[in-house]
Amino acid sequence: MSAKKIAVVIGSLRKDSLNRKFAHEVIALAPSSLSLDIIEIGELAMYNEDLEGNGVTPPQAWTQFRDRIKEFDGVLFFTPEYNRSTPAALKNALDVGSRPYGSSVWSGKPAAIVSITPGATGAFGANHHLRQSMVFLDMPVLQQPEAYIGGAANLLGPDGKLNNDSTKQFLKKFIDAYAAWVETNAKK
Ligand SMILES: Cc1cc2nc3c(=O)[nH]c(=O)nc-3n(C[C@H](O)[C@H](O)[C@H](O)COP(=O)(O)O)c2cc1C
Repeated sequence: MSAKKIAVVIGSLRKDSLNRKFAHEVIALAPSSLSLDIIEIGELAMYNEDLEGNGVTPPQAWTQFRDRIKEFDGVLFFTPEYNRSTPAALKNALDVGSRPYGSSVWSGKPAAIVSITPGATGAFGANHHLRQSMVFLDMPVLQQPEAYIGGAANLLGPDGKLNNDSTKQFLKKFIDAYAAWVETNAKK
């Protein structure tokens, strides 16, 4: 059985992003039934309907992003919380991938969300705003376990690696559940 290809999309553009550090940790914990690749979203121009359609060629970065996401069986999101919602960069990536109308690259791809913050609330607001878009984008989202990682800065050592055993065990359980979710829900 070949591994299912999973795009890892990180909602932070920051070099020292906690979300990126956790993404690497989760990738390392993933079972061999998943093959995960981080897909960057920082170069995507803000979505503007004037930039495509009616004979207008869309920005190359949009086309490359759409073509790349099409290659994957599922999408794993890591999101910070900005003002109790998802960062604009992540929402923009969703919007870019969702157009032209009727050609969304997200459709049907099984997803999961890890929300990460140094704060106390586990970025719940971002996690659930993302889920709201997933409904319309027709992406079946893993329900349990939910992954709200609060106090994230304290869970990493000076080397940027996870140094908390119970969080590691939880993230292993999470990525194994996602692997099973992908097996059940990915298009054959
Ligand atoms: C514009 C802005 C809004 C923020 N709003 C929230 C928030 O609503 N909730 C929260 O927990 N943290 C909030 N933060 C703090 C982020 O959680 C923190 O910067 C975090 O490190 C971002 O994730 P990253 O490390 O992956 O870049 C906000 C940060 C910024 C820049």
